[in-house]
Amino acid sequence: MPFDIQVTRTTNPKPRPPAGDLGFGRFYSDHLFLAEHDGRGWSGARIVPYGPIPLDPAAGALQYGQAMFEGMKAVAGEHGPLLFRPQMHARRMNASARRLCMPEVPEELFLGALRALAHEDASWVPAEPGASLYLRPTMIATEAYLGVRPSKKYLFYVLASPVGNYFGPRPTPLRLWVETEHVRAARGGIGAAKAGANYVAGMAAAERAKAQGFHQVLWLDQTHREIEEAGTMNVFFRIDDTVVTPLLGDSLLAGVTRDSVLTLLREWKVKVEERAVGMAELAEHSTRGRLKEAFGTGTAATVSAIGELQWGQRSIRLGDERGEVAERLYRTLVDLFGSRRPDARGWLVPVEPS
Ligand SMILES: Cc1ncc(COP(=O)(O)O)c(C=O)c1O
Repeated sequence: MPFDIQVTRTTNPKPRPPAGDLGFGRFYSDHLFLAEHDGRGWSGARIVPYGPIPLDPAAGALQYGQAMFEGMKAVAGEHGPLLFRPQMHARRMNASARRLCMPEVPEELFLGALRALAHEDASWVPAEPGASLYLRPTMIATEAYLGVRPSKKYLFYVLASPVGNYFGPRPTPLRLWVETEHVRAARGGIGAAKAGANYVAGMAAAERAKAQGFHQVLWLDQTHREIEEAGTMNVFFRIDDTVVTPLLGDSLLAGVTRDSVLTLLREWKVKVEERAVGMAELAEHSTRGRLKEAFGTGTAATVSAIGELQWGQRSIRLGDERGEVAERLYRTLVDLFGSRRPDARGWLVPVEPS
């Protein structure tokens, strides 16, 4: 195997968090995967006990934000952990890497890292319905150099966190604030990359929205007209019998869940449109009673109903329940993750060799 992974097991395993109280990103498993890039190639692939990593204060990740990550999940299968669509996450990681002048992580290394970590920490994969082991492949620039140019050294690491539902154990339909001042990403920018910088760009508006009782922000494009995505989700709207979602571009993230949901909807022969959706258009459909449901999709959010959109003075209200399409999608995905449904599309990849 070209990437031989050295394993140093912890001698001090942590207690497992209480079931039903996982939250999102509050607990970390026992191990960490690490590998370095020195400008020529990747080496030093290893599993070590979870802990702090040394970093020079002048590292490019800290100074210029040359840093990015992936977010994906492992679920409990009958014969060990299963990874959800890891190849698609590998492709997105490398698309982010190219945009941010970082080295690509060969798919073999990416999958090897996930497999090795999920294998070591298999007992951290929660078994309760809806819970999973969230995996966070991350790449940061580590060279100490203050000139502005891409770093010549990088660290690729993967951490694991057992998680429940992102919006709590009994999520209610989300209230979203339609942001008309800040933008998360502009055309030609880095919005399609999973760069940490995109998340800090959205924090001020998200905090403002949260202070007013909203769960997340609905981001519009730089003209403040067209809908892009929500905090950590892609968004879908059912207008009569057609499900509409914003077209991908360079200012929004191409969600793996978005792709999965589009695949399912097309298989079910539901009419879907990937196209520009304006807030004005949505408001008009709502007035005419044609806006039947709205939902967000994401690794953490799965399929979360949107109950309200606050757009300036105008409140666009949807139901207090998950709509019928969102419900069917949610059930299908949760049943798939819980191995209660055959995996016809090969989306779940076993960690252990069969
Ligand atoms: C900004 C943003 N958009 C969309 C998504 C949904 O992507 P995915 O379905 O791959 O998790 C995320 C997810 O984590 C996100 O952070």
